[in-house]
Amino acid sequence: MKILIVGGGGREHAIAAAVAKSPRAEKIYCAPGNAGIASVAECVPIGAMEFDKLVAFAKEKEIDFTIIGMDDPLAGGIVDVFLEAGLKVFGPRKNAAILEGSKAFSKDLMKKYAIPTAAYENFTSPDAALAYLETAKMPIVLKADGLALGKGVLICHTLEEARAGVKEIMQDKKFGEAGNVMVVEEFMTGREVSVLSFVDGKTIKIMSSAQDHKRAGDGDTGLNTGGMGTFSPSPFYTEEVDEFCREHIYQATVDAMAAEGRPFIGVIFFGLMLTEDGPKVLEYNARFGDPEAQVVLPRMKNDILDVMEACADGTLDRIDLQFEDNAAVCVVLASEGYPVSYDKGYEIQGLGSFVGKDDYFCFHAGTKAGENGSIVTNGGRVLGITATGKDLKEAREKAYEATEWIRFENKYMRRDIGKSILE
Ligand code: AMP
Ligand code: GLY
Repeated sequence: MKILIVGGGGREHAIAAAVAKSPRAEKIYCAPGNAGIASVAECVPIGAMEFDKLVAFAKEKEIDFTIIGMDDPLAGGIVDVFLEAGLKVFGPRKNAAILEGSKAFSKDLMKKYAIPTAAYENFTSPDAALAYLETAKMPIVLKADGLALGKGVLICHTLEEARAGVKEIMQDKKFGEAGNVMVVEEFMTGREVSVLSFVDGKTIKIMSSAQDHKRAGDGDTGLNTGGMGTFSPSPFYTEEVDEFCREHIYQATVDAMAAEGRPFIGVIFFGLMLTEDGPKVLEYNARFGDPEAQVVLPRMKNDILDVMEACADGTLDRIDLQFEDNAAVCVVLASEGYPVSYDKGYEIQGLGSFVGKDDYFCFHAGTKAGENGSIVTNGGRVLGITATGKDLKEAREKAYEATEWIRFENKYMRRDIGKSILE
C-alpha cells in the first residue's frame, strides 16, 4: 500500500513510525512532515490545509490510504474532500469532527444523551454570559467554542477574573471566531486521564490509557501548553473506571453521533476527569492526542494499517485490539520560553544515539533540516523522547536517561513527568 500522512508534529511521527512497521506499507509520504518523519517517510512540502493540492498529490502518486493526524484539516472537512475525490481516508467527516470543533455541540450532545460531563450553559451574547456569572459559583470554567490550540479554556477563581474572561473570549476575540460562542462550565476536580479509541461509525475499540502533563512547569505550574509529557497506561484508570466508561461514555458517544446522522470514523480522544462522583468527560478530540500518541502507539501490538482500514471499511468489530503488557513514558524537550516566546534554529546533537534501539524513540515535533545535513530546532515543542519498560518506573528512568543524549542550546523539559505515579 502507498500511504499519505497529513500533519507534521510528534503525533504524526508516532503514526508514521507505526505505519512503517507494517509489512503492508510499501511507500509512505507525509505532508508536510518534519526532519524526523523524513527518516521513515518521504516528506512533501504541502500544507495540511491545502486540500486541493493534497488530493492532486494523492491521485498523482496513486495513494491507497490517507491518514489525517491533525485537528484543523479535520474540522475544515478534509475527509469529505478526499471521499468526494474517490480516495480512501482515515478520519471523521466534517459533520463528525465537530465533536472536537465545537465545545457547545459536544456539551449539548452529552446532555441530550445523558453522557456524564460537567454542568454548563452556552452563550452567544457577552451580556447574557456576564449576567449569568454574577450569581455563579466560583471557580468557574470559560471555554471558547471552537478550536484554539488548546488555549481557549480559562479557569476563573473570582467574578472579576470571569468578567475579564468574557471580555477576552467574546469581546476582544483573543481566540478569533472560536469565541463567537462560549461555554460556561462547572469546575471539576480530580485526576485527568486521556483515553484514545478507534471508531468505525458503529463499533468502538479502546486503546490503553494515558496521562498528559499540560502545564509548562514542574508541579503543574505555569501556562497551559500542548502537552509536556505523557505516560501510559495510567494506574488511575482502574478496571472499575473502565467498566463505568464502557457503560456510560464510550459506546454512548458513538451511538449518539450515529443517531444525530453524524457517524464518527477515526479516533475519538476522551479527555476524562475522575471526579468523586465518577468519571466525567472534560472534552472530546477527533484525533490522536499529542503527546499521547507517542506513548500509546509504541505499545500497540496490531498492525496500525489493519486497524485504520477496518475503521474506514466499517469492520472494526473483527479487530482484536491489543497492547503490550508494558509501559511507556514520553518527555517533551521544548525550547526554553515555550509556550510564550522562544528562539529556534539551534542545531540538535545526539540524535544518532537512538538508532537501532527498539525501546527508545525520538519523535520529532518542531525540527527541520539545517545546513550540511544537520537538524535544527523549529518550534516550541522540539522532540518527544519516549522509552518503554516493563513498568512505569523503568520506562520513566529510561526516558529521562535518553533526554540526556540530546543537546541543543535552549533545551527545556519538565523533570517530573510521571513522578506522581511513583508516589
Ligand atoms: P479542554 O481543552 O476542554 O480539555 O481543557 C483544557 C484543560 O482545562 C483540561 O485538561 C483541564 O485541566 C482543564 N479543564 C477543562 N474543563 C474543566 C472543568 N470543567 N473543571 C476543571 N478543569 C477543567
Ligand atoms: N495532549 C492533548 C491533546 O492532544 O489535545
